[in-house]
Amino acid sequence: MDDGIRIAIDGPASSGKGTVARGVAKQLGYAYIDTGAMFRAVALAAEDAGVDWHDEESVAALVADLDVGFQWSEGAVEMVVDGRAIAHRIRSERIGGGASAVARYPGVRSALLDLQRSLAQRGGVVMDGRDIGSVVLPDAELKVYLDASADTRAKRRFDEMRHRDPDVTYEAIKAEIQARDTQDLNRSQAPLVRVPDAVYVDTSNMTVEQAVEQILLAAASRI
Ligand code: DC
Repeated sequence: MDDGIRIAIDGPASSGKGTVARGVAKQLGYAYIDTGAMFRAVALAAEDAGVDWHDEESVAALVADLDVGFQWSEGAVEMVVDGRAIAHRIRSERIGGGASAVARYPGVRSALLDLQRSLAQRGGVVMDGRDIGSVVLPDAELKVYLDASADTRAKRRFDEMRHRDPDVTYEAIKAEIQARDTQDLNRSQAPLVRVPDAVYVDTSNMTVEQAVEQILLAAASRI
């Protein structure tokens, strides 16, 4: 590791991974790599191409031809697909559901794995997702499993979404998050797991700052 340790943060949808991982990266001067954005990018590209998320063969064929790159923006990776930055188009719960669907396919996961590993190679990274500690970086110096109760996660997501979409309901958001969790936990390829060597952080009753602080404490002994 030339530039610092590798911190792997996994956890269910809306557990605060992105905000917390970004905060940790900022404090340490590390890069933040959001692997969920990569699966979201594939879901968006499929939708743009008129490919059904549930058609494994067509999605895998699309990924094989897709020009997936990235650019750096304020220390974080942003996806560039076919030469176009797509960060502003991938944050909806619908694209999250599509990402969860296409993330089941081995062809999709293997196409993104090399990119994920190469981005972490030099160290000095905080990478978040579902399988970072188990598959992408099984030898990461620090692994964290970030959790929160289903109600807390649904409430956070609802508070975030209601400004963008006044018609959204708490019940619908909660159902979507639960469906995504079920799919991410039960798939055969690289499911979400809490690996035994991960530090467990339940953010249900924590502020973002407290969660960041807890991870920085764990990181301090490994740097
Ligand atoms: O973290 P997120 O909500 O942006 O992720 C969107 C979906 O992508 C998630 O429901 C499952 C999939 N995903 C995955 O399978 N593996 C990862 N490392 C990251 C995300």
